This record gives sequence, structure tokens and C-alpha cells, in this order.
Amino acid sequence: MASSELAIQLAYVVAAAMFIYGLKLLGSADSARRGNMLSAIAMLLAIVSALLDQGIVEYQWILLGFVIGGATGGLVARQVKMTAIPEMVALFNGFGGLASLLVGTAALSTNPSTFTLVSIVLSILIGGLTFTGSLIAYGKLSETLSSGAVIFRGQQIVNSLLVLGIFASATMFCLEPGNIQWLFLVVTLSLLFGVMAVIPIGGADMPVVISLLNSYSGLAACAAGFAINNNILIVAGSLVGASGIILTQIMCKAMNRSLRNVLFSGFGSASDSSSEIEGEIKPISVEDGYYVLEAASNVAIIPGYGMAVAQAQHVVKELSELLEKNGAEVNFGIHPVAGRMPGHMNVLLAEADVPYDQLLEMDDINPRMETVDVAIVIGANDVVNPAARDMESSPIYGMPIINVDQARTVFVLKRSMASGFAGIENPLFYKENTRMLFGDAKESIARLVREFS
Ligand code: TAP
Repeated sequence: MASSELAIQLAYVVAAAMFIYGLKLLGSADSARRGNMLSAIAMLLAIVSALLDQGIVEYQWILLGFVIGGATGGLVARQVKMTAIPEMVALFNGFGGLASLLVGTAALSTNPSTFTLVSIVLSILIGGLTFTGSLIAYGKLSETLSSGAVIFRGQQIVNSLLVLGIFASATMFCLEPGNIQWLFLVVTLSLLFGVMAVIPIGGADMPVVISLLNSYSGLAACAAGFAINNNILIVAGSLVGASGIILTQIMCKAMNRSLRNVLFSGFGSASDSSSEIEGEIKPISVEDGYYVLEAASNVAIIPGYGMAVAQAQHVVKELSELLEKNGAEVNFGIHPVAGRMPGHMNVLLAEADVPYDQLLEMDDINPRMETVDVAIVIGANDVVNPAARDMESSPIYGMPIINVDQARTVFVLKRSMASGFAGIENPLFYKENTRMLFGDAKESIARLVREFS
């Protein structure tokens, strides 16, 4: 091996080790920033090493792609609103898939061996379905498409035929690589399958789909790595693929469902059970809310997507400090799928410097709920919906929730009676012990803070 080649392979090993250590640091909130930075440096090292590889004969196209891609990415990342980050992550996954599809296609010009040909076909088909699947996920998350499940008769048969068609055309292409029609068929069917696989997945199940697509984008990159014989792409792709699968499992556990059930059951498409809801809405003013909170000695704060929309995390922190000064014990209850991306609430509360030991996971806060004087629900809806626990006819029946209705009093802070992401009514709002504090969450909490101080 020439010394330049040895140096490149060594740089790849160093970058791979940095990726793995970076991932480890991402595992805890206080080291996550360092983990992110370390992984970014590793990526830079990997890219520079790949660019120095002897296989590259011309740099002008790479430079052009770098300028156009970098400028677009930089611009979009600067302009994106905090609440649109989950959609952007879905697009990242999608374009990762598209990139693998293109790399795989380009690798066809290298006169590939059978093994390389199989890798190429895998990168194309996984990349293709990841691309269109992620576009649908983007549409559902940004609510430009309906977030509910799209189900029609014979759907599973159509999907099975698509899978069969993909495998048949992929096999034919590997046997007759000169026959490019087979490749066109693989690409077309994979793109179609991406759409068909994601449309039947309903509102509350989107967390599972996002993490699964994330995993697919890694697998596609890994296959592309084999296709162009690039070790660091193989390692980085496998890391993304494996961590995506682990996250998928965590999300399935959080929803109390199996992956098979999520992918094939059309959860979220059942009819709404709002007709079974009894009780009446009882609004409360900020002033009255203050008197109740002032007398409380145990408060639980349950944030949801609305806290991200209102950007209320800083005033929430202020309120929690005032409550503590007033002698109350304050904890935050974090549901694993609250918000629109894994860890969404943890990131927001960490940004506001809420101490980590005040953040309790769903399984830790639920047993304490009966001792809580006031549970303040801030822009959360689906993750505190008791229908998931009590109403068998509910589309989200079986999903574990934070049992805020078991607290003595519940304050729900939201702007209207609108439903959450799953698009269903919430019986919590009609319960005897619930008071609705209508308005933008940041404004309502700022007014409560003013009452206290
Ligand atoms: P949601 O059920 O989506 O409810 C959010 C609530 O926030 C809405 O009912 C909305 O009511 C309220 N809201 C919006 N803006 C507000 C503002 N400025 N001030 C006060 N309230 C505001 O949220 P959740 O309870 O966090 O549940 C998350 C849902 O998203 C689940 O169904 C989950 O499966 C799904 N999902 C999660 C993920 C991940 S990974 N976390 C990914 C995709 C989908 P108003 O309009 O009346 O204010």
C-alpha cells in the first residue's frame, strides 16, 4: 500500500473512532454539544480524506456541488424556524437517501463485480424509498398533507406486489446488468414504495416512521459505501442505520406497539370517539390560576408541542423557580413522543437551563401523580389524552400517556379547543378537575409570573 493510501485509511480509522465517541457523548444532555462538535470534525476529516483519494481526477464538479449544496443548506438552516426542525430532519433523511441513489447509479460506470452490483442495487432501492418516504413524512409533519393514516381496500396486496416487483427487477438487473430497463424498474418501484409505505401510517405513529427512515438513510449510505468501496461511508452508514433502529425500538416501546403493528395496521385511522366524551369545559383566568398555584405544594409541569410553538421554555423556567421559592416541589414530566422529534422537550428545557434532575420520564412521574396538587399541561394534548388509556374505540388506544388527570387539579394551557397531531378530541379538557387557561402559552405563563412577582 502506498504511503498516501495508508495515510487516508488511517484518517478514516481516526474519523470512525471519533464518530463512535461522538455518538457516546450524544447519549447524555450535558455532553451532547461536545458530541455534536466531535462528530462534525470527524465528518470534515472524512470528507477531506476522501477528496485526497487517488480516484478523484477532476475537482471542479465537486467544488460546484459543494458551493451550491453548502449555500442552499446554510441558507435553509439559518431561516428554518425552531418548530420546523423536525420537518427539516425528515428532509435530511430524504436527501441522504437520494444521494445514495445517485452514488449507486454513478458507480455503475465502474464495471462492477457481482458483489458491487448487488451493493449498487441495494443503495438505489433503499435510497429511493427513503427519499419519497421522507418527502411524505415531511408533508405530514409540516401538515401540508393530512397527518392521519391513508387506508384503502387492497392496500396490503398492492404493497406486497410492489415489494415482489422490486425484488424481481433487482434480481433481473443483477443477472443482466446490460439491460438498463430493469434498473429503471427498480428505481420507479422503490420511489413508489416509499410513498405507499408511509401513507398508511397515522398521526401518533409518525415518531416511529421518522426514526425508521433515519435508519434506512444510513443503510442506503452503507450500501453506497460498498458500491464505491469507501470504508468511512460503510462505517458512518452502519452507525446511522444501527442508531436509527435502536431509536425505532425506543419509539415503539414508547407507543406500546410492535414495529409490525405500526407498519401494517393503519393505527390512527379508526374513527374518533369524541361522541363518548362527557362533561363541560371550565375556563380559568390567570388571576384565579395564580391563587391555586400559590397554595400548591407539589406541581408537575407537562410540556408538549405547544411549548415549542410558543417558545415558552424560558418563562416556564421562571415560573418553576417562583413556585419553588414559594415552597412547592416542582418536577417536569417528559413523554417520549411529546413534540415533533425525539428529545424535543429535553432540548428546549436544556436551552432554558432547567436542571436535569427535575426532568422525570413518564414512568417515573406517573406513580407520583396522585400526590400532585397542580399538573400544568403546557401545549401538550395527545400525550396526556386519557382516551388512550380508557376508551377502546379511540384511535390512540393503548399508547401510554402521562396521567395528569390523576392530579388534584389540572391546568391546560392552549389557545383553543383544537386537537393535537393525532387529530382527536381529548376528554381531559372536560374532566371535573380540569381548568382550561386559554391563550398563547408564553403569554399565559408570563402573566402568571407577573402575578407571582
Ligand atoms: P400535540 O398533541 O400535537 O398538541 C399540541 C397542542 O399545542 C395543540 O393541541 C395546540 O392547541 C397547542 N398549541 C399550539 N401552539 C400553542 C401555543 N402557542 N400556545 C399554547 N398551546 C399551543 O402535542 P403533544 O401532546 O406534544 O403530542 C405530540 C404528538 O405529535 C403525538 O401525537 C406524537 O405521536 C406526534 N409526533 C411526535 C413526534 C416525536 S418524535 N416527538 C414526531 C412526529 C409526530 P391549540 O391550537 O388550541 O393552541
